[in-house]
Amino acid sequence: MIGRLNHVAIAVPDLAAATKVYRDTLGAKVSPAVDQPEHGVTTVFIELPNTKVELLGMLGDKSPIAAFLARNPNGGIHHLCYEVPDIVAARDRLVAEGARVLGQGDPKIGAHGKPVLFLHPKDFCGTLVELEQA
Ligand code: CO
Repeated sequence: MIGRLNHVAIAVPDLAAATKVYRDTLGAKVSPAVDQPEHGVTTVFIELPNTKVELLGMLGDKSPIAAFLARNPNGGIHHLCYEVPDIVAARDRLVAEGARVLGQGDPKIGAHGKPVLFLHPKDFCGTLVELEQA
């Protein structure tokens, strides 16, 4: 069911510093920072030949990555995003398998303007999984 790895997301305490590491130290192509008020984060995308890295910085007091950064003060891998051809069909199959979808269970529009859903890490080997309709 899942297809390509769309991105690996890394939550960071200092988005400007993390962007500098990827751009200057690692020599990667980085996007401008974009606020995602709907998701409580600011994102920077690192374009790699085979996938992307999504740097996530906190936006606002109620950012969903605040607790993660409190546990991981240096930052860390926050989620993996896999592409699926039909997100509603994927959700229905996962729910039928007993997996938990976070939130209301309805796809939201994600950082790429495409529908996304998040799946509970306890059901997926301790990893928060994002599904994006490709
Ligand atoms: Co993501």
